[in-house]
Amino acid sequence: ITIYVPRDAVALGLGANRVARAIFAGAERRGLDVTIVRTGSRGMLWLEPMVEVATPEGRIAYGPVTPGDVDGLLDAGLVNGGEHALRLGKPEEMPYLARQQRLTFHRCGVVDPVSVDDYRAHGGYNGLEAALKLDAAGIVEQVRDSGLRGRGGAGFPAGIKWNTVMLAKSEQKYVVCNADEGDSGTFADRMMMEGDPFNLIEGMTIAGIATGATRGYIYLRSEYPQAFATLKEAIVNANAAGYLGANVAGSGKAFHLEVRLGAGAYICGEETSLLESLEGRRGIVRAKPPIPALKGFLGQPTLVNNVMTFTAVPYILEHGAKAYADYGMGRSLGTLAIQLAGNIKHGGLIEFAFGITLREIIEDFGGGTQSGRPVRAVQVGGPLGAYFPDHLLDTPLDYEAMAAKKGLVGHGGIVVFDDTVDMAKQARFAFEFCAVESCGKCTPCRIGATRGVETMDKVIAGIRPTENLAVVADLCDVMTDGSLCAMGGLTPMPVMSAITHFPEDFQQRGPMSV
Ligand code: NAI
Ligand code: SF4
Repeated sequence: ITIYVPRDAVALGLGANRVARAIFAGAERRGLDVTIVRTGSRGMLWLEPMVEVATPEGRIAYGPVTPGDVDGLLDAGLVNGGEHALRLGKPEEMPYLARQQRLTFHRCGVVDPVSVDDYRAHGGYNGLEAALKLDAAGIVEQVRDSGLRGRGGAGFPAGIKWNTVMLAKSEQKYVVCNADEGDSGTFADRMMMEGDPFNLIEGMTIAGIATGATRGYIYLRSEYPQAFATLKEAIVNANAAGYLGANVAGSGKAFHLEVRLGAGAYICGEETSLLESLEGRRGIVRAKPPIPALKGFLGQPTLVNNVMTFTAVPYILEHGAKAYADYGMGRSLGTLAIQLAGNIKHGGLIEFAFGITLREIIEDFGGGTQSGRPVRAVQVGGPLGAYFPDHLLDTPLDYEAMAAKKGLVGHGGIVVFDDTVDMAKQARFAFEFCAVESCGKCTPCRIGATRGVETMDKVIAGIRPTENLAVVADLCDVMTDGSLCAMGGLTPMPVMSAITHFPEDFQQRGPMSV
């Protein structure tokens, strides 16, 4: 009897280890021969810890399971998929999962994350095998033709970046994965690294072989200890199985991979400060050019991509560029890992083709707010993304369509707020976040963010709101035009979207309004 219990950080936070222990003890008391496999999460976070049992008809899920539920579940015949109030049926038939287009996350929550055999049994390393039949230019051509764009937020065409590194002449090149997932409301990278780390390892290995880089680093945020442990174990196992190291899958090509931990700075998600940090220095933004593709880690050509960019690659190589490009709209092709969070009933990971609207995500998948109150504002793309009001919720998730509405797709994080939100405080928070996280290299961001907090405080206190909002708008123009990187350059986006779409929250606030 095989029972699957997630070891994803969310499930662990909700007691998955205690549930696993209770299942083990309860099964032993009943003389049942149970094997517990620890998996990642399927991404239906309100159902965690979600326990699954293998039956002749397929897996049957139960959730959310507490340790106190376990005896009742075992008495109800959990091991045979028996009836119980927590029984959810087959996970892949649950509407939240059944409606998704899981090209990248299809193994997440299914496999044992650190077993190479399980990975292989679910199609793992087919992409690498296909890649090894091509030359470097052939691999890059597949990535280019798939239309894959950088999933860290900027949406730069991955094929062009890969091509730049491939053509760069150097003794040593590097592949670096940006796993410093710092945006509010985002967890796709973490879920992938904890649930299907070989997918990332395979994507990076293909990238190394395509670009001629023999060394790779995963730059992981220190707030992800579970992902760190899982990645380290997976890398050891991939080396032992011959999929990493001096002779990748018997190809004669080398690819060595290591994980490095950040130290908790949001700005280290910006690629040049990430590289500074990886080199052992304080994370301060470097001016571009030169771009990292030509002069990156230790001054050598370096391919920097996000976890979600690398993990899209095995599917592309296995199924072909066209299979991937058949999903999506316009110039945004393939699928996006949408992370639904905030005040939402059914928060979780939704992999879907670009083009789905925000309303479909929030209503059809999310089931509305957790509080039951009306949705008032939705922030898309992390703390630097715009706040959208109801009338913009029919905007499709597509890089160009979002930009046309002065918003961002970013890393695909969506945070929902109900009608109790105070948008002036949210605008203040954007400045405060920037003031705290600014690397300090350029004046518009370093000084502008602090002046922004002070000026928003005046608006919130009702002190000459009209004049002070004009100062905020002016400040935002300077930050947008004069900042060295997206941190200072995009902070005006949440601020100005809040002021534009929710003006009523900024006027006549306090007793001092004049
Ligand atoms: P960027 O537009 O400067 O560059 C995008 C990528 O393309 C970089 O890797 C750059 O090196 C590369 N590139 C540019 N020109 C190239 C060329 N000719 N050949 C090869 N490669 C080239 O954007 P940046 O500053 O890297 O990222 C900004 C974006 O980051 C924002 O739009 C925002 O959405 C996103 N962001 C993401 C966050 C997250 O936590 N994931 C947090 C904050 C912002
Ligand atoms: Fe540093 Fe801010 Fe300037 Fe970016 S915009 S370089 S974070 S000071």
